[in-house]
Amino acid sequence: MADLRIVELSAATIVAVNTLSLKPGQERFVVPESYAIAATVVDPATSWQRVILDGDEVVGFVSAGFDPDAPQEHFRSVLWRINVDADDQGRGIGRFAVEQLVEEARARGFACVDVIYEAGEGGPEAFFSRVGFQPVGETEYGEVIAEIRF
Ligand SMILES: CC(C)(COP(=O)(O)OP(=O)(O)OC[C@H]1O[C@@H](n2cnc3c(N)ncnc32)[C@H](O)[C@@H]1OP(=O)(O)O)[C@@H](O)C(=O)NCCC(=O)NCCS
Repeated sequence: MADLRIVELSAATIVAVNTLSLKPGQERFVVPESYAIAATVVDPATSWQRVILDGDEVVGFVSAGFDPDAPQEHFRSVLWRINVDADDQGRGIGRFAVEQLVEEARARGFACVDVIYEAGEGGPEAFFSRVGFQPVGETEYGEVIAEIRF
C-alpha cells in the first residue's frame, strides 16, 4: 500500500480531480438519476469534498453530504461521488476513502452513511458491498439504496 492521504479539495488539486479517468463502461454509473435530481437542491454548506493523494499524486476523489434536516432520510449522511483514477483502481484507494468518510460521519454524530447506486455490469455494486454497504431499499428509479451502520 502506498502513502495515502486525504486532503481538502483546493485550487492546487481541482484540475487533477476533474481529469481523473474512468475505465471503459464506468461512465454511466458515476451519477445515478436520484443524485442528478438531488444535486440541484444541495446546499454547498453541507457538502464535504476530499481528494486522495498517493504521495503528491492525485489518485481519487470522494464527496459526501451531511445534512440532518434533509427531508429524505437517505440524503442526510450520504456518499455523493467516489472516483479512483482508472490506473489506480484495485489498490485499496476506494476502501481508504470510504473509511475516511465513515470517520467523518461518526465525528459529526451520524450513525450511518448511505449511498445510492445503479446495479449492473461494470458498476460499483461489488465495491460498495465489499467495503460494507448493505442494501436497505430502492429509489423510485430502481436504484439501490445501501448503508453502512456504525
Ligand atoms: C468504485 C471505485 C471507487 C472503487 O475504487 P478502488 O480503489 O478500485 O477500490 P478498492 O481497491 O479499494 O477495492 C475495495 C474492495 O472492493 C473490491 N472491488 C473493487 N472494485 C470491484 C469490482 N469492480 N468488482 C469486484 N470487486 C471490486 C476489491 O476487490 C476490494 O475487495 P477486498 O478489499 O475485499 O480485496 C472505482 O472503481 C471507481 O472509481 N469507479 C468509477 C466511478 C464509480 O462508478 N463510482 C461509484 C459511483 S459514484
